[in-house]
Amino acid sequence: MQEHILSMRGITKAFGSTVALDNVDLNVRAGEIHALLGENGAGKSTLMKILNGVYAADKGEILINGVPTVFRNIREAMAGGISFVFQELNLVLSLSTLENAFLGRLKSDSRGIIDWKSMTAEFNGFMKSIDFEMDPGRLVSELSIAEKQMVEIARALMLDSKIIVMDEPTATLSSEEIHKLFNIIRILKNKGITIIYISHRLEEIFQICDRLTVLRDGKNICTLDVAETTKPYLIEQMVGRSMDYEFPEREAHPIGEPVLDVKNLFTPGFLQGINFTLYRGEILGIAGLVGSGRSEIARAVFGADKIEKGDFWVDGKKVSIRSTMNAKALSIGLVPEDRKDEGSSIELSVMKNITITNLDKVSRGIVLNRRKEVREAKRMVQELGVKTPSIHHRLDQLSGGNQQKVVLAKWLYNDADILILDEPTRGIDVGAKYEIYLLIYEMVKRGKSVIMISSELPEIFALSDRIMVMYEGCLQTCVENHEGLKPEDIMGFALG
Ligand SMILES: Nc1ncnc2c1ncn2[C@@H]1O[C@H](COP(=O)(O)OP(=O)(O)OP(=O)(O)O)[C@@H](O)[C@H]1O
Ligand SMILES: [Mg+2]
Repeated sequence: MQEHILSMRGITKAFGSTVALDNVDLNVRAGEIHALLGENGAGKSTLMKILNGVYAADKGEILINGVPTVFRNIREAMAGGISFVFQELNLVLSLSTLENAFLGRLKSDSRGIIDWKSMTAEFNGFMKSIDFEMDPGRLVSELSIAEKQMVEIARALMLDSKIIVMDEPTATLSSEEIHKLFNIIRILKNKGITIIYISHRLEEIFQICDRLTVLRDGKNICTLDVAETTKPYLIEQMVGRSMDYEFPEREAHPIGEPVLDVKNLFTPGFLQGINFTLYRGEILGIAGLVGSGRSEIARAVFGADKIEKGDFWVDGKKVSIRSTMNAKALSIGLVPEDRKDEGSSIELSVMKNITITNLDKVSRGIVLNRRKEVREAKRMVQELGVKTPSIHHRLDQLSGGNQQKVVLAKWLYNDADILILDEPTRGIDVGAKYEIYLLIYEMVKRGKSVIMISSELPEIFALSDRIMVMYEGCLQTCVENHEGLKPEDIMGFALG
């Protein structure tokens, strides 16, 4: 019998009428990488927030090395040797990378003067030891999401903890960065550190985890050795039914005339003369590494970023896109990558988040038709399987993945003729991904056109009619997605 470094026993937690956790046990052995799995809203993040004192459990106990322990807040948990990399990043945007890495534990000398020099040295030394480059002086607000995530990870790692909890750490990382993170995780494991790992990417579980625990609807389903299980079995445990396929079958859909032409698009210091055409009824996938310019194309076409030059034609007519207002008037929509900051209003209800940009659809003249608003919001919530007690709940009370679904719902309801999806399934569980793919097919069948940016090649391959590959601000290639096309071909272009 191996000893448990952490035992959570009989943990129960309700938020109002929502029972997030119902008598849950989690037993983690010292030095293992233990995966915590489950659909969006299953209770994974809540369980971890009970561990670190963000929430108090209604019932249950926590034992660390056999000793009953209660942390009242993150600081106490950190002092007790447990650190956390959260799903929703906890960085102070107005501070530097270095200040964030040492947040809450700035070093000072005997006179109380902050010792930037030694902190910088420690930071650089640490970054070097994990083979990662990062300028400690840069403001966090200027970093990409992936870089922000690395700051958060570095902060947790530099604390010298016994247990590190990672809640979807790879959701925003590029494949190269994920590779680096896994190396770091292996180094930590060799040092005897225990890791609790949450992810919706099941391949990762098989790559780095030793054991796993599945939650469903706030209940324990099973705890298993990774070596003894298979992906289809895990999916079945998570969603509660068997799922034969991760992707719906590709249906033939007619592709029509050009709806969007982009010529010679340059953005300051980024895009280097991009040319492409999107056709009616087409799903155009954009692959490439994080930082290769995929999101910049999306933002430029949506009028969200300033462009240096470039011409646009919509339905064969030359148009000017200089603001998001212009884009929306041309029926172009964007579901942004960073949905927390750009896509949603977390203090508003689920319903308002869906209808707020679509008020004309639920109004007659200037009069809001409340019944219709409720009906339409309910319909979208149901179609995407958003887990919420009601459509009147505030968005920030939903689990991370369910917040993502609401932002998607807003744009799918908006019915734009050209919809740009930037990482549409990030943080979304297997079952819900399938539903989203079906909705994308539904849109193109109705003659809409979709540009889909994704870091998950299987998703690009399964859905796209054509695939564009970006590298360092340049369009490397644009190919028909045919039978013989292989992921290696695309990766070759993505790596330049
Ligand atoms: N602060 C809160 N107020 C009300 N309900 C909440 C709150 N936090 C979580 N919940 C509810 O508790 C349940 C579990 O949420 P949790 O965030 O733990 O899910 P999760 O497994 O982490 O999902 P995801 O994969 O989407 O991140 C959900 O139904 C969610 O709506
Ligand atoms: Mg979560």
